[in-house]
Amino acid sequence: MTAAASRRTVPALAAMAHAGEKIAMLTCYDASFAAVLDRAGVDALLIGDSLGMVIGGHASTLPVTLDEMIYHTRCVAAGARQALVLADMSFGSYQASREQAYANAARLMAAGAQMVKLEGGAWLAPTVEFLVARGIPVCGHLGLQPQSVHRVGGYKAQGKTEASARVLREDAQALAMAGIELLVLEMVPAALAAEVTAQGTVPTIGIGAGPGCSGQVLVLYDMLGIYPKPARFVRNFMTDGKTIEAAIGAYVTAVKDGSFPGPEHYF
Ligand code: KIV
Repeated sequence: MTAAASRRTVPALAAMAHAGEKIAMLTCYDASFAAVLDRAGVDALLIGDSLGMVIGGHASTLPVTLDEMIYHTRCVAAGARQALVLADMSFGSYQASREQAYANAARLMAAGAQMVKLEGGAWLAPTVEFLVARGIPVCGHLGLQPQSVHRVGGYKAQGKTEASARVLREDAQALAMAGIELLVLEMVPAALAAEVTAQGTVPTIGIGAGPGCSGQVLVLYDMLGIYPKPARFVRNFMTDGKTIEAAIGAYVTAVKDGSFPGPEHYF
């Protein structure tokens, strides 16, 4: 069996969610960390465009280029053996047209991604359909969408009013109908995330979205206590003098047994 053949697959994540096993995801940006995360049992590695902030030192994810995403995807894919590898499409690389999205998603897949992630609601459904029909698995991203930080006016929780919660539910449904196979929910009320998850159409991965999601994701540099300005939903797993590998193992255990996120980590 080849290394690629023994990797977690998109259907395998769906099967985990169906069986009630929580999915432990972390962001990852290089081969060395990919190997550590892999050994510690992380199910999925996200090459997040958060790399613009935690590696590039930018104030947002907007300056990240597709070429940077391709480079880091190639690095992570080289270091991972078991975990599924998914990559963010950078700002400006998929919004213009379905054709633009396909051409750029294909470059990320060629670099080693098994799935791409796009930020946006119902307006993205035709793009999702176009990618899925051409063999590219897609992860959606609703709630706080960091690429829209200037429209929203900051990194704020979303879906807190009945009207915005309704839009989020409709967006989730439109993306599910279009064929997404995973959905990140960022900074939304725990009850709303649990409700979307309970629909059972698509496994959900929460970040600041409570314990009712099918799995959790954190930015690696946040949960290791490296990034100086972590959000409220972050838990630092490097306390108690742990090694990095032990800290990652503690994260995987806490996601699987449901002890993370605790009430202090969601809205
Ligand atoms: O870019 C990123 O790291 C992300 C996660 C916060 C989900 O999209």
